[in-house]
This record gives sequence, structure tokens and C-alpha cells, in this order.
Amino acid sequence: MDVIKALTSRGSTRAFLPDAVPKATVAAILDAARFAPSGSNIQPWQVHVTQGTARNTIADAVTLAATQPSAEHHPEYTYYPSTWYEPYIGRRRACGWGLYGTLGIVKGDHIRSQAQELRNFCFFDAPVGLFFFLDPKLSVGSWLDTGMFIQSVMLAAQGHGLATCPQAAWLPFHRIIKAHLQIPLELTLVCGMSLGYADRNAIVNQYRPERIDTDTFTTWHVDKPQP
Ligand SMILES: Cc1cc2nc3c(=O)[nH]c(=O)nc-3n(C[C@H](O)[C@H](O)[C@H](O)COP(=O)(O)O)c2cc1C
Repeated sequence: MDVIKALTSRGSTRAFLPDAVPKATVAAILDAARFAPSGSNIQPWQVHVTQGTARNTIADAVTLAATQPSAEHHPEYTYYPSTWYEPYIGRRRACGWGLYGTLGIVKGDHIRSQAQELRNFCFFDAPVGLFFFLDPKLSVGSWLDTGMFIQSVMLAAQGHGLATCPQAAWLPFHRIIKAHLQIPLELTLVCGMSLGYADRNAIVNQYRPERIDTDTFTTWHVDKPQP
């Protein structure tokens, strides 16, 4: 797939077909993504691939934990600011209400909102769940590297005709995930990801959040074209 097409056609997919993804396909995606750049080529990312029993056990355990809110589930890092402000709060709200609007979930419908939130923990029915980890002894630059790796995984998946949803929703449940996958407690869970074949008939997958114009985030310091 053309790289521009891969970039512009990727979207977070929140309904997947049950069709299995061969292990060789997941391996091919990771084999491509490992060419992601990293400062001094340290390649700090670690990824755990779950399918079948491992995927199902984690999905069940985290769904149960998420339906019984308790103070013990905290993310290891704060993905979002503790105090929101414009323009970011406006964009966040537009994204949330755009998604829920597509699903016909109205403001105040806590039951359907929570049900949609819980869909994260069955990987939106995707057959493969990925978890990305980082050694916290590394520094901020390695988070940058890992982000590029994660985007590379998503684009490589596109190239193989697969769809993804990156998921911060898993972050509070890092202890459960690490326990099931026998991952050292000291590693930091960066994010989860659903991977599979998109259900193109699912209405939720029709939602495509708008992007701000390029000139909103770009300042040009370039020579004027010569007449
Ligand atoms: C690191 C990261 C974490 C995310 N976590 C979630 C999540 O937990 N659940 C979810 O449904 N979407 C999640 N998203 C998807 C974003 O909502 C989505 O990327 C954004 O709205 C832009 O839409 P698009 O990916 O379809 O272009 C996450 C995205 C990123 C990059």
C-alpha cells in the first residue's frame, strides 16, 4: 500500500470480525515495524502479542475489574493533563461526542456509555491484542521512539489489510496484564492495541474524527518562491 494512502486511511477501529489473524501475519507486521527509528538505534520497545487463551483470559479479568471500580487500578503514567484547557478540551469533547453520536448514545446515558467503554476490554472483538511496554529507567526520548514504533505497527497492519485501535483504556489494569503475561512489574505499560479485520458494516467504524488544518499547527519560515 502507498504510504500516503496508509496514513490517511488508517482509523481507530472499534468493531472487528471474528476471523483469525495468522501468527505469520502478526510476525510480518512486527518485522516491518521494527524498522521504526529510535535515538541511537536503542529500539526500546517491547511488545506482547496475545491471542486465544492469553487474550481471552486478560479480556475476562480486566472486564471484571473494570465493572467493579476499585481504588487499586491506576495507570503507571498520566496520559492526559490533570487540568484540561482549550483548544485541547474542545477537541477531546468533539471526539468523544462524535463517537457516541455515531452510536446514538446521548449525553447522560451512563449505561450505554459504560458499555461502550467496556468494549475496549474485549479488544472490540479483535482476535489479537497487543501490549507495548517500556523500561522506565529509560528517558522521555524512548517514549517518542515507542510512539513511532506503535504507529509503524498500525501502518504495517494497514498494509496487510488489517485494522487496529490503539488503547490507553488498558493502562489502569497493568498489574492484571503483567500477572497474566508474567511480565516484570517494573516495566511500564505504554498502551494496548486491538488488531484484526475490520467489520466494515459496523456503524462505529464509520466515525472518522476531523483533523485541524495543517496551517493551524504549522508555522512556515521559508523563502518566498522567486518570480
Ligand atoms: C495512545 C492512544 C491511546 C488511545 N486509547 C484509546 C482507547 O483506549 N479507546 C479507544 O476507543 N480509542 C483510543 N484511541 C484512539 C483515539 O481516540 C483516536 O486515535 C483519535 O480519536 C483519532 O481517530 P483515528 O485514530 O480514528 O484517526 C487512542 C489513541 C492513541 C494514539
